[in-house]
Amino acid sequence: MDASFPRHTPAGLHNEDGDTWLARNHQKRFPRLVNRRNFLATTATLGVLTPLGSAQSLGAAPGAPARQGGGAPKAPAGSQSPLAGTPAVFAPAADGFTVVTTLDAPALVRVQYGEAPADGQIPPEADDCAKLLNQTAASDGYGFVPHDDRVVQIRVHGLRAGTRHLWRLVATPLGSADKAPRYSKVYSTRTLDPAAASTRFLVWNDTHDRAPTICGLHNRSRLSAFAPGETPDFLLWNGDLCNNVNHRAQLPHLFVSPKDADLAGLPPVFVARGNHDVRGIWSNKVPDYVAFPGNRPYYAFRSGPVAAIVLDTGEDKPDNHPSFGGVAAFEPLIREQAAWLDEVVLRPEFRDAPHRVVFCHIPLRWLKERKPDYSRHGYDDFSRRGREAWAGALRRWGAQVVISGHMHHAAKIPANNEWPFEQIVGGGPALTGNPKGATLLRGYADARCLRLEIAALAEGGTGDNPLFHSEFAARAWGSFFAL
Ligand SMILES: [Fe+2]
Ligand SMILES: [Fe+2]
Repeated sequence: MDASFPRHTPAGLHNEDGDTWLARNHQKRFPRLVNRRNFLATTATLGVLTPLGSAQSLGAAPGAPARQGGGAPKAPAGSQSPLAGTPAVFAPAADGFTVVTTLDAPALVRVQYGEAPADGQIPPEADDCAKLLNQTAASDGYGFVPHDDRVVQIRVHGLRAGTRHLWRLVATPLGSADKAPRYSKVYSTRTLDPAAASTRFLVWNDTHDRAPTICGLHNRSRLSAFAPGETPDFLLWNGDLCNNVNHRAQLPHLFVSPKDADLAGLPPVFVARGNHDVRGIWSNKVPDYVAFPGNRPYYAFRSGPVAAIVLDTGEDKPDNHPSFGGVAAFEPLIREQAAWLDEVVLRPEFRDAPHRVVFCHIPLRWLKERKPDYSRHGYDDFSRRGREAWAGALRRWGAQVVISGHMHHAAKIPANNEWPFEQIVGGGPALTGNPKGATLLRGYADARCLRLEIAALAEGGTGDNPLFHSEFAARAWGSFFAL
């Protein structure tokens, strides 16, 4: 267990240990964000909105996207881009994906995109690349070009399933005479393909804002998580991305631009919230930074032969626990998901899928199912509330496996007569290499078999040290009706 931030400390809006950790790391980790807060305070004091002049004094963020090569024109000399850090791609679907970028100053933001060349590579020459970026996503659905001074989400839609697209961000400063566009580097993202014969995916969990772990998972996920040419279709980040959100300035770094990790360079990301992601006074702003399909933190999607249902287990204590200060309302959300589950498992694309996988941060089963004493710092090892609400629908659906995190201990609990779905749990945030350390789960499925492999990501290790694996034969079509 890492002394720098405790795992299941008492869940407070003002987690003392977390704040201590933050105080030590805040200025170091968010120099640009701290500057931005000063900038906002300054403009508020002055009562004027002339942000670019102020923003020009801000320093460049660590890990900011390169602005040369790959089709990115050079910005005017001496200018400062309002784009902060690196972007992220969330909520992939068969027809599109959502790009999120954080900002240091007010700006209009568009996405220029186009189909990738046949080899899927980003042309090295800027002119060749720019010719491919022949379409623009520049509408937020309410009639506005996306703009803000903190964060924007831009949905790229109308794409064909399973197609790879190149894209870049174009940011134009707002409230300034300087209208010169600033560009991100060019990225490459593929839409999901529900009809594909096979699919591959990755799962991270419980990274807890641990930079070396996120960097290690990032590098493993980019370089050789699968054989060359077998790019994963999606990455599912299975909760506890952070420790809490006690300060708004944490949000960009926690959810879009982690230190030394360029999320947009990875497969598109689905997020399942963990209990620490819903902890802290500003955790209600996470949806501004993470795009969820359908505007709820629970959702379902299909990738090749795999149907996935992502559930939100909320906090690990009852809503009325005094540490939540009255802001927790996850019990209604669990009931809402139960009603939704009853309906979603009947949709043909999920009902008839060869493989049926559930992702949720807090497991629905655990090795020793104790009853926590919430008055003495107890917390849920597994979500009894979620299981009681959802197990009926999951049984009827024929869920094969529930993939979770939360316990910081990799484990596999086989299906049995009482619970006819396997429970897999990933490891914790540390790079220890044992079952308590960080893990990378790799999934592969074709029409016959779903294979899951959990590997330890030890410090300096390869991430190719399997802890265990599981295989599942495909469910027969219509098995729902046999139950
Ligand atoms: Fe955790
Ligand atoms: Fe957790």
